[in-house]
Amino acid sequence: MENNFKMIATTFYGMEEILAKELLDLGAQEIKKGNRSVSFKGDKGFMYKVNLCVKTALKILKPIFSKKIHNNNELYRIFYDFPWEKFLSIDKTFVIESTVFGKVFTHSKYVSLRAKDGIVDRFNKKFNARPSISLNDPDLIINIHITNNLCNISINSSGSNLNQRGYRKSTNIAPINEVLASGIIKLTGWNGNCDFLDPMCGSGTFLIEAAIIAGNVPANLNRKKFGFNRWNDWDLNLFNLIKNSQLNKIKKININIFGYDKSPSAIIKAKENIESANLNSNINVFQKDFFNSKKQGSDYLHIVTNPPYGERLKGDINSLYSKIGDSLKLSFSNTNFWFISSNFEAMKHFGLRPSRKIKLFNGKLESRLIFFPIYEGTKKIHKK
Ligand SMILES: C[S@@+](CC[C@H](N)C(=O)[O-])C[C@H]1O[C@@H](n2cnc3c(N)ncnc32)[C@H](O)[C@@H]1O
Repeated sequence: MENNFKMIATTFYGMEEILAKELLDLGAQEIKKGNRSVSFKGDKGFMYKVNLCVKTALKILKPIFSKKIHNNNELYRIFYDFPWEKFLSIDKTFVIESTVFGKVFTHSKYVSLRAKDGIVDRFNKKFNARPSISLNDPDLIINIHITNNLCNISINSSGSNLNQRGYRKSTNIAPINEVLASGIIKLTGWNGNCDFLDPMCGSGTFLIEAAIIAGNVPANLNRKKFGFNRWNDWDLNLFNLIKNSQLNKIKKININIFGYDKSPSAIIKAKENIESANLNSNINVFQKDFFNSKKQGSDYLHIVTNPPYGERLKGDINSLYSKIGDSLKLSFSNTNFWFISSNFEAMKHFGLRPSRKIKLFNGKLESRLIFFPIYEGTKKIHKK
């Protein structure tokens, strides 16, 4: 307990509740929901565990100090005064990531630059030498978050964002972010209790994240590195102990997780990604047009998908969404159908009555996650 410290997990808009529940299940203490973030307490081993296992967080920050500041000189000064020798030495590299909100500080890049000057000047004064900047492979990532006058400084224990799970091999399709995909599946309430289909699966992100949820697989098992690997207090034995205990908690998956895509190249990419996630025995993908498919059997089926949004081909997308509605009604009774799209106009063409709508953001695109329960006898509603 006395070795516990505060951490902040960052996430997407609308995922705070899901993330807080996930952290609670992992064993976090003193959980508090924020805006696109959740703070909690745990010790060093728990920090390793969260980074390895968490599905719905983008990064895990360890706050080191907070100060009120009013201008760039004060910003420089707090960085100059802080004893960075605890975290850095002249043979190490670092980078500063900043986000700014409010009217006082408006340029995140300038904030990073002034903070960097403070650190560098401190080392030059003390040691006549300084740690270098590395943008791609730094030993330490310093995170600055300024809201109006309050400057929160943390070190980033994750390194690159945790959506980089380590399984994605093929990147030339615009895939959905892995953390967003996992959060969406959790928001739909699916936890491996019935078969799961993504009928427009692209590179397979929803399928892989579904298998990770159903099998209780540590989400970031395939990552090669985390930020804490290069911290002064990195403890490989402790990390391996935690990793092995999490590997023992992986469950056998007893339901079908499967995907279709009409594009042969998408199916090739999905297969590569599934194989690299070591999930081939749990997921099947088929090159198939959703509109030529039919639900097999009478058991409940859970569908989560992101169909093309068609930012450019609006007309075609309206009819695509209308055809999805028709196919569901005709061939998919006893299905929970969830999809995410930012195309609000096309969504009106489903012709089915949604029973839930959840606001989310896919990157910068404001989107809706929409739920249509499809029963025997679900009727299309007709637009006037
Ligand atoms: C936005 S992408 C999905 C991206 C995916 N979630 C991922 O993470 O890679 C939409 C996909 O729908 C597929 N698609 C479009 N119409 C289809 C249809 N009628 N049947 C099956 N797949 C279709 C496209 O080929 C494309 O791969």
